[in-house]
Amino acid sequence: MYTLRDVEIAYSYYAKSPFYSLFSNILLSKLRKKAIKKLDLKSNYDVLDIACGTGINFRPIEKIIGKNGDITAIDYSKDMLEKAKRLIRRNQYKNIKLIQADAAKISLPKNHFDAVISTLGFSSIPNHKAALRIAINSLKPGKKLVILDGRQFDLKPLNIFLPILRWNRSWDRGKDLIKDIKQLFPKKEIYLEHYSLGSNFILELKK
Ligand SMILES: C[S@@+](CC[C@H](N)C(=O)[O-])C[C@H]1O[C@@H](n2cnc3c(N)ncnc32)[C@H](O)[C@@H]1O
Repeated sequence: MYTLRDVEIAYSYYAKSPFYSLFSNILLSKLRKKAIKKLDLKSNYDVLDIACGTGINFRPIEKIIGKNGDITAIDYSKDMLEKAKRLIRRNQYKNIKLIQADAAKISLPKNHFDAVISTLGFSSIPNHKAALRIAINSLKPGKKLVILDGRQFDLKPLNIFLPILRWNRSWDRGKDLIKDIKQLFPKKEIYLEHYSLGSNFILELKK
């Protein structure tokens, strides 16, 4: 079973690896941009970034929301958050709040955020269903949750390459996020796009 202990070990290792950010940035930079665009951000928006990691989404979000907006960013890994802290210091952002917590247990204000994003987050969160419920609960009605995440390739034989692309300990490749989201929120508008031979997707959900 994939647990918080796996998360701790995998992301403590990744946080110290000089290649992690570079690799994840290069491979997914276009999809990240697309995902952030789909949030329909405006200046002053209050944004929640779930499983923010090293804070890779902060710069593009800050560019749009500006000084009067806010980012609340949650991650379980202390080591990933250390890197996020450094990024915040370097850029002198005053409007980003980092929270070290399990996204499946955190208490967040109801109907509060103007946008919620998670990039490669929910596939790494052991109790992703609880985290999804919390995320939706914290989103204002009419606003969007956008998820960029990974899944198995449509063409099954290609899945032997998955452990090279993403360490098994850093995500739960067996979960079917899309199915779970549709089951959890059957009445919500959901839009879905697949990329990278089906191994990545962007899902938009309007509350
Ligand atoms: C693949 S990284 C993605 C980081 C970042 N969002 C990105 O796009 O690069 C997955 C992140 O999920 C975090 N994570 C895993 N389980 C978590 C949980 N239960 N609560 C909060 N964060 C969690 C990990 O610590 C890690 O930083």
